[in-house]
Amino acid sequence: MTKILMDTDPGIDDAAALALAINNPEVDLELVTTVAGNVTVDKTTINALKIINFFGKGNEIPVAAGAEQPLIKPFEDAARIHGASGMRGYDFVGDLPKPLPETAVQAMHRVIMASDEPMTLVATGSYTNVALLFSEYPEVKSKLTRIIAMGGTLGRGNMTSAAEFNVFTDPDAAKIMYQSGVPIVMVGLDVTMKALVTPETLAEIETMNRSGKMLHDLITSDGDQSEAGVSIHDANTIFYLLHPEFMTTKKLWIDIQTEGPANGETVADIRGAYHDGKTNAEVCVDIDAEAFNEWFKAEVQNMK
Ligand code: BDR
Ligand code: CA
Repeated sequence: MTKILMDTDPGIDDAAALALAINNPEVDLELVTTVAGNVTVDKTTINALKIINFFGKGNEIPVAAGAEQPLIKPFEDAARIHGASGMRGYDFVGDLPKPLPETAVQAMHRVIMASDEPMTLVATGSYTNVALLFSEYPEVKSKLTRIIAMGGTLGRGNMTSAAEFNVFTDPDAAKIMYQSGVPIVMVGLDVTMKALVTPETLAEIETMNRSGKMLHDLITSDGDQSEAGVSIHDANTIFYLLHPEFMTTKKLWIDIQTEGPANGETVADIRGAYHDGKTNAEVCVDIDAEAFNEWFKAEVQNMK
C-alpha cells in the first residue's frame, strides 16, 4: 500500500487520475488538495469533491482548497479545454461533502508530518501549493519519498512551443519545486501525448459500469477526439506510481525558465554541462501506450 497525497486542479484528466487513485487497492489516498489551474480554485475544489463523492468516499478522503492564483504570474485558466465548470460532460448528483477548514498547505503539512512513513506527493496541477508548502514548512521535504508531477516536456509545449500548461501556469512555483531537493518524477508531454486513450478503449469503458460511463462522458465531452485517441495526461502519474516498468526514464537536471517568450519551459541539462553531472528529476521519456490502455480498462472494470 503506497500512501499518497494528490495536489490537483480538476480538470477532466485530473478527475481520471483521482478516480484511478481512489479505487486502486494498492493506493492509500490520504489527502486531496486543490489549486487554481484548469479553472478557478473554488471550481477545482468542487470538482474534486464531486469525484470523491461519486465513489462514496466523502467521509474518508478529505479535500483542502489551496492557492487562488500563481505565485507571481497572473492566472490564466484552461476552461476552453475542460469547460466552464472544469469538468464538462457529466451531471454529478447528490450533496457534496465540505472541504476542510484548513488551507491546502496547512493540511499537507499536518498529514505529511503525522504520517508514520514517508509519503508520495502526486501533483497534477500547477505547483503553487507545493512551492508554498516547501517555503513555509521545509521540514516536510525529508518526509516525502518523491513527487510524481505531471508537467513539462523535453519537446514542444502545449501552451507555447516551449511550455506545457502546468509549468506555464506557475513557472516560479515549478522552479521552487525543482530546486527543492525532493526527488521528482517528471511525467510530461513526452509520455502523456503518446499514451492516448484509443476510441476502442473509450467505447469499452462507456458500457462497462457507472464509473466507465462517467469517465467516458468527461473524456469525450469536447466532441473533438482524433482517430488516434485522447490524452488523459494526469492519469499517467498513477500509471507510473503503480507500473513504472511500462515507462522509460532518464535522470536529468531540469531548470525552469521563468521569463521571456519561453516562460514555463522545462530546460533539461541533457549534456550534464551545467550542474556537475547532478540530476534533480527522473524524466519519463517513453511509455508503452498499449499497456496504458489495457491497465486503464482493467482499473475502470474494478471501479464501482
Ligand atoms: C496538463 O494541463 C492541464 O490542462 C491538464 O489537467 C494537465 O494537468 C496537461 O498539460
Ligand atoms: Ca491537471
